[in-house]
Amino acid sequence: MKHLLSLQDMTPEELVETLALAHEMKRLRGTAEHPKPLAGKSIAMIFSKSSTRTRVSFEVGVYELGGNPMFFNKDSLQLGRGEPIPDTAAVLSRYVHGIVIRYHSHEEVVELSESGTVPVVNALTDRFHPCQLLADLMTIEEHCGDLKGKKVAYIGDGASNMAYSWILAAKLAGIDLRIGAPKEYMPDLNSIDLPEGEGTISCIEDPMEACKDADVIYTDVWVSMGFEDEAQERLETLKPYQVNDVLLSSASEKVKVMHCLPAYRGKEITAEVLDGPKSIIWDEAENRLHAQKAILARLMES
Ligand code: CP
Ligand code: NVA
Repeated sequence: MKHLLSLQDMTPEELVETLALAHEMKRLRGTAEHPKPLAGKSIAMIFSKSSTRTRVSFEVGVYELGGNPMFFNKDSLQLGRGEPIPDTAAVLSRYVHGIVIRYHSHEEVVELSESGTVPVVNALTDRFHPCQLLADLMTIEEHCGDLKGKKVAYIGDGASNMAYSWILAAKLAGIDLRIGAPKEYMPDLNSIDLPEGEGTISCIEDPMEACKDADVIYTDVWVSMGFEDEAQERLETLKPYQVNDVLLSSASEKVKVMHCLPAYRGKEITAEVLDGPKSIIWDEAENRLHAQKAILARLMES
């Protein structure tokens, strides 16, 4: 694995190894045995969108791996004034040992990775959010055991960066993924190259049916960053896809509820469910730190 731009960059074996390392990072946090593969290395973080979890967990993670995190808002760089991405990548590659980037356009992140000489990690684009998925899979392993054959219902905006990331993750990890979404927000499965793997993906309009016997119900905001102009229409169309107690009654009794956060209580999920006993969202948020450390450690060693 040279970069992590999407889970298309990983084989099923690499996924298993990265998740094992993430659990190890969690176990060793705060001990003398914690690895420091970034000692003497600097990581540039370029963000053009808001972030709480990704920014803070990457900064802390790089520091705990022995490295030096350098955060840049896109507009504080000449990139914000029109310096081309290839020039930025070429120059940064002379200074830093890796780049973590949150950007609007996935294609531009691909261009950055192709123009520089250091590993690039996608910290969210309009298309994919692979770091979130690594943390999500790690959290499911903690709470539900082996990923293979697990039934995951992704409810809401099925055409979002999170939904597409889940499609790749499910295929790689052998998960039975059901996307429960209205037809306007269904993913276009022909628009992505699926990785190798044993998972299956079904698109189901009825959210109750999508959640039937689910081990995990997952949701994300209805209005992703960059889609604010469509807010009213989205909130209206996606209303029947709220994750609430009625929807949970269709799932397994042991169902766990996940959300990448930030969450809007009363919209895509009720407060009762998000803050209730089936929710594992805080562990999920914490695991961003451990999973990203594993990603950086693997990219830096290769
Ligand atoms: N889930 C997630 O990526 O959160 P932030 O937008 O706060 O980084
Ligand atoms: N789909 C959301 C994810 C936020 C972590 C967005 O892109 O805004």
